[in-house]
Amino acid sequence: MNLGLNRFAILVACATFFLIIAGALVTSNDAGLATPDWPLSNGQFLPRMVGNLFWEHGHRMVATTVGLLTIVLAVYIRLKEKRQWVWKLGMFALVAVIAQGLLGGLTVKLMLPLAVSTAHATLAQLFFCTTVSLAVFTSRSWIEARPLPPEEKGSLPLRYLCTAALVTIFLQLILGATLRHSATWDRHLPVQLVLAHIGGALAVTIALGSAALTVLRRYKDESFLAGPAVVALVLLVIQLFLGVAAYLTRLASPNEPQPLNPMIAITVAHVACGALVFVTTIVLTLRTYRVLPGEKVQSSAFELSGRQAKA
Ligand code: HEM
Ligand code: HEM
Repeated sequence: MNLGLNRFAILVACATFFLIIAGALVTSNDAGLATPDWPLSNGQFLPRMVGNLFWEHGHRMVATTVGLLTIVLAVYIRLKEKRQWVWKLGMFALVAVIAQGLLGGLTVKLMLPLAVSTAHATLAQLFFCTTVSLAVFTSRSWIEARPLPPEEKGSLPLRYLCTAALVTIFLQLILGATLRHSATWDRHLPVQLVLAHIGGALAVTIALGSAALTVLRRYKDESFLAGPAVVALVLLVIQLFLGVAAYLTRLASPNEPQPLNPMIAITVAHVACGALVFVTTIVLTLRTYRVLPGEKVQSSAFELSGRQAKA
């Protein structure tokens, strides 16, 4: 295990979270077209950061920093990491951040079309998920993890429950992004999409709630699994409250002269907390795959260790 590499991967993941907040601030302040220019801003590399340009150009600067950090991370992995699949994931992160930068430029050039802005919001979550996974794979707890006692025969394996929760959350993030980019602050949100997103919230609550509670029932003393399960449950409750609050403040926003607080703060917090729910579930899912191998592998691994103990 390389401590320096793991710390750097954690740094990149934290910087990506900050970048998601910076991006959400662009959308909530309706600052996406503060400059119609890209890659320069109003023909300049460093424009005066006034008005909405503060949010738009600020987001570009944070994105550039994260892009540079991702290049360093990919090289660092290449130099220090022996597992080839981790190299590949590092390269994937690099490709994703470049594609994300291009999508950001494209959405400005095309004047924020729904499809491109939604794709930009969705790829942001996938990129965050990649950097968090790199931090997980390079961590000591991952490398030193040992198999846990098998789950009861006939029960639904936790790895499937967690994967189902993960997929449901991802679909909900796409729905949320479509909803958010369907109407600027001065318009009302489309009712069908709001209803679909509420249905999605119910699905996420059932899928993630049952996965996390099952983890706590079967492995409550194993902090490797119980830790992310508890965090995911807490974040889910906060996210549901933020969702209702985002809806209520959005209802009032078209009557206001410009995007105002608390609408900005609450919608940005809802995007950020959505990202945290997603990555916590990824950590939980990856860890179930790590310590609870499939039924066949599991029984043979345990039979083997049993035979070794007898010998
Ligand atoms: C490279 C990594 C990048 C990441 C991870 C990222 C992430 C994000 C996120 C999370 C949002 C908020 C989406 C939402 O609230 O629904 C956003 C919005 C935005 N980003 Fe980026 N971004 C990146 C690069 C860029 C670049 C290079 C540009 C260049 C112009 C850009 C332009 C924008 C614009 C204009 C918006 C607002 C879109 C709208 O309001 O419709 N982004 N970004
Ligand atoms: C676990 C449940 C939920 C998750 C994971 C979730 C996730 C998200 C995400 C990630 C976005 C923005 C996506 C983006 O632009 O990148 C969003 C937008 C939104 N969500 Fe949720 N959401 C959940 C529950 C709810 C609930 C219960 C409501 C209540 C009605 C709600 C109302 C909204 C609204 C109004 C927006 C648009 C905000 C805006 O226009 O700025 N969400 N959701």
